[in-house]
Amino acid sequence: MRLPAVLASRFVAGETAESAIAVGAALHSRGVRATFDLLGEDVHDRASAERAAAGSVELLRKIPATLERNVSVKLTNAGLDVSKELCLELATRILEVAREVGGFVRIDMEGSDHTQATLDVFRELRERYDNVGCVLQAALRRTEADVVEAIRRGDRVRLCKGAYREPARVAFQSMSEVRESFRRCAELMLEKGADPAIATHDESLIQHALGFARERGIPPDRFELQMLYGLRPGRWNALVAEGYRVRVYVPYGTHWLPYFYRRLRERKENVLFVLRTLFRG
Ligand code: FDA
Repeated sequence: MRLPAVLASRFVAGETAESAIAVGAALHSRGVRATFDLLGEDVHDRASAERAAAGSVELLRKIPATLERNVSVKLTNAGLDVSKELCLELATRILEVAREVGGFVRIDMEGSDHTQATLDVFRELRERYDNVGCVLQAALRRTEADVVEAIRRGDRVRLCKGAYREPARVAFQSMSEVRESFRRCAELMLEKGADPAIATHDESLIQHALGFARERGIPPDRFELQMLYGLRPGRWNALVAEGYRVRVYVPYGTHWLPYFYRRLRERKENVLFVLRTLFRG
């Protein structure tokens, strides 16, 4: 592996589907579920989008029946910036195969300039498919209304904070506001949402979700907690031991740089880890 790839290996499960599936199998043996993501985004031509979609199709076919065929997909990797039509065509291709193999496709959410287009494509797909879900970001001011609408439609939502830098016009800027929004959205989803996924490493938000579920008598099998590969593995095990459903996002592939930078930007501990690895040689 090249040097940057060695550094990224804390957060990325390798460059091939096989390496990601091996990670998924190891997680499975500990009772932890996985969603696999073939890394890639910001594709601007049909050929690259076709290749990326073919990669997700191949991944779905390679995941063994012993594991859940659960994948995450970014729509800019499936041609969203080329045209909505191309994106729908390629996403449909992925969803058809997912349906055939009993799989599920989670459509990741990208920066706010793609929010509406992503939801538009998602909703068109949802009219034809049950095996698809979306992601909403608590950092965005619009998200509480999007959560209410998703609940009304019976959509399966993963709630996260949001990994993109956004202007104050569309997003809360302070962590306390983002957390407050996250808590409001999580409560709505836990109470009324379809199979809600609470995706965070933030212990205060995990505790809030678990406390709210306990208080309202919402059983642990009605929702899941999600975290990223490489972050808080000890916590995954503890939550599974307590009877919670935990799913880990397992990214892989050669286009890992933007994903890797987002992880570094999020927490100084992630940067410190990379620096330690670097200086240890
Ligand atoms: P954040 O980084 O804000 O940290 C807050 C606190 O959490 C810390 O102060 C500490 O207490 C605790 N903590 C965090 N990491 C820790 C660690 N390693 N060890 C110990 N404590 C730790 N984003 C997006 O825009 N679109 C998407 O589609 C997705 N998809 C997605 C899927 C999944 C499964 C996850 C978990 C996340 C995403 N994200 C995402 C990323 C998300 O929006 C967000 O950027 C990151 O999860 C970071 O925010 P957190 O709330 O996890 O903690």
